[in-house]
Amino acid sequence: MLNQSAAAPIESKPADWKPTIVAVVCNWCTYAGADRAGTTRLTYPASVRMMRVPCTGRMSPLFVLRAFEQGADGVLLSGCHPGDCHYVQGNLFARRRFTAYRALLDFIGLDPRRFHVSWVSAAEGGKWQSVVKEVTAAVTDAGPLTDWGKTNGHAPVEIPAPPAPPRKPVAADEAAAISKHLRELAATLLQDKGVSMVLGYRPGGLPGQMVPAFVTRPEDAALLGWSERCHTNLAVYLAGAQHVTGKIAVVVKQCDARSVAGLLQETKIKREDVTLIGVSCAGVEVNDQLALKCYACDGDAAAICDYTVTADGVKPGAAASGAKRAVAADPRDAQIEYLEKLPQPERWAFWQEQFNACIRCYGCRAVCPSCYCDSCITEKSQPQWIPASIDGPGNTSWNFIRAYHQAGRCAGCDECARVCPSRLRLDLLNRRVAMEMEQRFHYHAGERIDGAPPLAAFQPDDPQEFIY
Ligand code: FES
Repeated sequence: MLNQSAAAPIESKPADWKPTIVAVVCNWCTYAGADRAGTTRLTYPASVRMMRVPCTGRMSPLFVLRAFEQGADGVLLSGCHPGDCHYVQGNLFARRRFTAYRALLDFIGLDPRRFHVSWVSAAEGGKWQSVVKEVTAAVTDAGPLTDWGKTNGHAPVEIPAPPAPPRKPVAADEAAAISKHLRELAATLLQDKGVSMVLGYRPGGLPGQMVPAFVTRPEDAALLGWSERCHTNLAVYLAGAQHVTGKIAVVVKQCDARSVAGLLQETKIKREDVTLIGVSCAGVEVNDQLALKCYACDGDAAAICDYTVTADGVKPGAAASGAKRAVAADPRDAQIEYLEKLPQPERWAFWQEQFNACIRCYGCRAVCPSCYCDSCITEKSQPQWIPASIDGPGNTSWNFIRAYHQAGRCAGCDECARVCPSRLRLDLLNRRVAMEMEQRFHYHAGERIDGAPPLAAFQPDDPQEFIY
């Protein structure tokens, strides 16, 4: 059951006000349980609008977002008890997803009295009656939802700034030595090792900047270089590079290597098609305090790499079955804690301020290696789950669903936050979801290339204390 200790309703409610609650229910258990409640003449509040789906496994977070966006005051998701699913495992997968929705909704400051999950079997007409009564009481207590996509009148909330990322500046001679070894290795790979493209960095853009380089001829390897301004996570190019014949070698920092591990795990690329050149990265330079990068990284090259390049030369990598996780303490965790301690309406105001600043440029999506769908949900119009307009509801839904899709998948490179022109704290959303995956399911994205990400798996005894 959800934490019921939420703040007072934002607006006083009219005396005759009754909540609207959207109940998304599975066909085989809860719908039949509700039917049983009706046929046995059990009465319960007429607050629930029921939407029947085949299984809890079919329940998308988009249903929840759409319901709130269209004016629901509360949402209830309900299906078969674990072990009773008509499709055997649908509810076990769904339970993990509900965990992620709930954590994110709570983190963005939605009143927890508005979102509920229950297991109600076909025989439990009485339980359906009591769940509806309890959910209706909670939503009634929360009052009308009037601020979806809006701040609730609170003044903008400031959070304490984190200190600058701990970064050891890379000496010019060290960067030059790494660049030299990279160029030699790239030329050898292109000439002798069957690699058809080396994805690396070259000087370009503004003075001193490094931009992605796509090198296909040994003689062009001389273009490549390394500096502390190699920001881009080059793994972003891999999922779309199936048309490249032959192997692709890619220069990876530790965070980038975790993204590659994620792509391998999700079978978007094959291990035999990529050669990973790990660089021992001391943290990239950010000339703007708000360009959030490299807080949590310990700087070692990832164990998954085939080669490791340092100023001392090139070493064959261990080619381990996953990328090592950053271990440094992340001072942004204090910001997350600060936000979580804020009263729920203030937390909502903070995130609505953030989302309202989003210009829907989708830069966050463009730089993210995990955002590889050919057709993004934001571009689908039939049905249109995410409003395309740049407004409060559309921006809230987009930013929520982007963060949800990163659950158990975000490698923590923080490129989305770095490139965001509106400086949205996408890193905090990603990190909060990652913390949930770690605490609940002991899972760290990018650490392994086998198995399944946490929302594509389950354990029979996954925690479910929030479910009625
Ligand atoms: Fe009811 Fe799967 S059929 S939860």
